Amino acid sequence: MATACVTGASSGIGRSFAEQLASRGYDLIVTGRRLEKLEELERELAERYGVTTEIRILELSDRNALENFAAELSSHEELGYLVNNAGYGRGESFTEDSFSEHERMLAVHVTAPMRLAYAVAPAMKAAGTGVIINVSSLASLLATRSSLMYCTTKACLNSFSESLALELGPHGVRVQLLMPGFTHTDFHRDSAVYPGRKRNRFLLRWMPAPQVVRISLRSVDRGRTICVPGTANKLLQILARQVPRGLRNKLAGAGIGAAFADDPPIELLEADSEASEEANQQEKDAGDQS
Ligand SMILES: NC(=O)c1ccc[n+]([C@@H]2O[C@H](COP(=O)([O-])OP(=O)(O)OC[C@H]3O[C@@H](n4cnc5c(N)ncnc54)[C@H](OP(=O)(O)O)[C@@H]3O)[C@@H](O)[C@H]2O)c1
Repeated sequence: MATACVTGASSGIGRSFAEQLASRGYDLIVTGRRLEKLEELERELAERYGVTTEIRILELSDRNALENFAAELSSHEELGYLVNNAGYGRGESFTEDSFSEHERMLAVHVTAPMRLAYAVAPAMKAAGTGVIINVSSLASLLATRSSLMYCTTKACLNSFSESLALELGPHGVRVQLLMPGFTHTDFHRDSAVYPGRKRNRFLLRWMPAPQVVRISLRSVDRGRTICVPGTANKLLQILARQVPRGLRNKLAGAGIGAAFADDPPIELLEADSEASEEANQQEKDAGDQS
């Protein structure tokens, strides 16, 4: 049976990738740092889909650990999917945060996906098949003060992914650049950046993680390189590319703030973290039935 590797599978989008790839019959190699979450996932996937899950506890900014993991993946003979998903946000200012924190984000969002893609691409090329998904963000199209390194590193991942798709496409290897918008995951729940509650506003629509992943995998099946899940996010992507940059950057700061509220009017309230989990569960159940 073919194997899929998902980084950052202990929660959110990565966990949904693991579940949906398992439902397609893939054995899994999953990474993260929260062992108990990954063990829970392993049990769930074995019970529901009868697949094998190998757990790797991995800090992706640790260069030695990354090299060891890359060596393991490069010798894997049946890797069908690599999902470079692990990532995180920080709300510090560029000048006030330590430079080592900036280097850490570069390592997790840029070096690790590149290194792992470099490890798996030769075997995929030789086999004439395989999929590499790099999880970026709609924020990569923006410039914001509050998430400077996040936007910068994800923009780098975009450029890398599109170029890699051009190189590997003729060899039968599909590369997807996935750019989700606001998604219900631990990303915002644990973040000191946006402690407020989440709400839909205008084009800012929160999506459940399983829905993002379902759209991503469908898009891979259709052979598309860039995937922006959700109609509202697609419109935001077009706006981000068309609106003059100065105006776009002003709107971005206000727009990101509008998706969160400490005390939102009840009719605008989409979900707090409990409701987020419920939304993800409902989406997962709907997917299981389809
Ligand atoms: N949620 C959103 O609104 C949103 C929007 C656009 C893009 N994204 C992107 O989607 C991807 C997945 O995020 P998510 O929203 O699903 O958040 P999440 O629920 O917090 O999951 C993040 C995953 O990445 C892992 N991770 C984070 N830092 C790591 C590190 N230094 N080394 C190893 N693993 C690390 C975490 O593992 P442990 O916690 O176990 O260490 C976790 O499994 C990220 O790349 C994020 O940038 C998210």
